[in-house]
Amino acid sequence: MRRKIIAGNWKMNLDWQEAMELGNRIAGEVDDTTKAEIILATPFLYIPVLSELTEEQPKVALAAQNCSQFRQGAYTGEVSASMLRSAGAKYIIVGHSERRKYFHETNDVLAEKVKRVLENDLQPIYCCGETLDERNSTAHFDVVKTQLETGLFHLNDDGIDKCIIAYEPVWAIGTGVTASPEQAQEMHHFIRELVKSKYGDHLSGKISILYGGSVTPENAALLFKCPDVDGGLVGGASLKAIEFGEIIEAMN
Ligand code: PGA
Repeated sequence: MRRKIIAGNWKMNLDWQEAMELGNRIAGEVDDTTKAEIILATPFLYIPVLSELTEEQPKVALAAQNCSQFRQGAYTGEVSASMLRSAGAKYIIVGHSERRKYFHETNDVLAEKVKRVLENDLQPIYCCGETLDERNSTAHFDVVKTQLETGLFHLNDDGIDKCIIAYEPVWAIGTGVTASPEQAQEMHHFIRELVKSKYGDHLSGKISILYGGSVTPENAALLFKCPDVDGGLVGGASLKAIEFGEIIEAMN
């Protein structure tokens, strides 16, 4: 069975106290009936403290939203994958479209980051997705294919087995416009077929592919019903404990 995952991407939001409160509330809502694994992608700073909280709640784990492509050394302001592991992270988001857009991260740089994540026994959540222009010009499949082939498919079977993929159409992120279940399923199926053609049936059947882009309590259940959608990467709605709880519930 593929892992079902709901990940919250807090982005650059919440001060210390707000972050502790939200982390505590979410961990408190997860119980034996919760079907999905919960991942909280918090700002770096909050990882060591919140990871203590999640030690008591095995269904909740922490992710970083980014890491350096370098291992260590004179890279002022950077945070390495090994630091994040030692601070308590289990996952690292790589290639979020905001990193690609505002920080000019290319598929080649992302390929390096994926290596750093795996070298440290952490799991990458590798993001891909097209812009509205790319979809309108029907380039979306090619764009996603290149993002995966360059950023991820340098891995061997063991490496890909540890990855989670998140399909996040850029036009749906933070816009309130969600991909329809049909659009999501179509792209998720395409991604699974790509993994299959490179890594075979077994690994493509195992890999979790999350949908991200304006997931809300209202649309989550229909998206999660799609056969190739294994959960969500949730931005805005993950900042409110009640809404995020309802999205977790939608997986049940
Ligand atoms: P959103 O963000 O849910 O606010 O659209 C999703 C994401 O960027 O991961």
